[in-house]
Amino acid sequence: MTLSPKGTGHLTAGPVTNSRISGVGGYRPRRVVPNSEIVDRIDSSDEWIRERSGIIERRFAGEGESVIDMSVFAATPALEMAGVAPEDLDAVIVATVSWPYQTPAAAPMLAERLGTKGAAFDISAACAGYCHGISLASDMVRTGTARNVLVVGVERLSDFTSLDDRGTAFIFADGAGAAVVSQSDTVGIGPTVWGSDGAQWEAISQTESWIDVHEKNLGWPHIGMAGQTVFRWAVWGMAPVAQQALDAAGITADQLDAFIPHQANVRIIDAMAKKLALPPDLPIARDIAYTGNTSAASIPLAMERMVRHGEIPSGGLALQIGFGAGLSYAAQVVVIP
Ligand code: UT7
Repeated sequence: MTLSPKGTGHLTAGPVTNSRISGVGGYRPRRVVPNSEIVDRIDSSDEWIRERSGIIERRFAGEGESVIDMSVFAATPALEMAGVAPEDLDAVIVATVSWPYQTPAAAPMLAERLGTKGAAFDISAACAGYCHGISLASDMVRTGTARNVLVVGVERLSDFTSLDDRGTAFIFADGAGAAVVSQSDTVGIGPTVWGSDGAQWEAISQTESWIDVHEKNLGWPHIGMAGQTVFRWAVWGMAPVAQQALDAAGITADQLDAFIPHQANVRIIDAMAKKLALPPDLPIARDIAYTGNTSAASIPLAMERMVRHGEIPSGGLALQIGFGAGLSYAAQVVVIP
């Protein structure tokens, strides 16, 4: 990139290329946790959990299976599918809220494990984190800041969930999903529609700040959620955002090949599909049934499953939308790798 002659106030080089998702990968921990393991401590039932959330079982990470381990397991197949060697990654972005270090970020350790010395940083946008990461990665590639960017959504939420909390114990789960964003001749990632509503900052949050935990000797904190408040916000607020992402990409719902929303609750997914008037035969991700709500990991995990099972075509169009704590959200249309 060269600067224009002094005083003209602009650069001579603009965006250099387009971007696309060149590979996806996912990792589901081996430990399957059925509803029957959860219900006793929260006075619930398998039927209630299935009916109210759509969850049949979820995965919890095993002893010593870290956020980094899961990220490596998700990133490796994503890089293979993309045909990108780790040393050709110019940046690694990790979206997570369950990395247990305030600093440093998880991303540099992941980059080191994979074998790249590229830029590495974490982002904290909870269940919207992956779509924020795709947006950043896409802009980095389009402007020439990076040739290939790895975006990982990863959570070990079992560490931050109280199994005695009736509102969350059956929802949150562990896993990792990854995507590689690369240069492209054609537009492979549409404009992101994103935002936040900080007035509802407390609707999903760590129960106490680290300062209170320390000063009041409160023990280990967990994530609390005002379920009904978040449910209403998601059902009423997120369908218009998804529609704006379609509009920004210049397509209509009948041109989609997949709808891959954050896996928060199957009732939210169904309500959004109805409000968007999606075609009845459109493949819709319902990975939540067997994976639970893995926050930042849920969208890439769901896409990886649909791609692996041949449910959605390579080169087709997928609408993805993440939403959650903040309350934050981000949506975009992407070409399926
Ligand atoms: O990922 C980030 C974004 N997160 C979300 O989008 C999650 C949004 N929220 C939700 O998905 C739902 O609010 C939940 C699945 C968490 C809860 O479902 P709900 O339909 O909103 O339940 P509710 O809190 O309105 O409670 C309905 C009834 C109540 O009983 P009454 O008052 O009708 O007799 C609760 O006491 O269900 C009862 N209940 C339960 N029963 C069995 C609440 N929690 C449970 C439970 N097991 N775990």
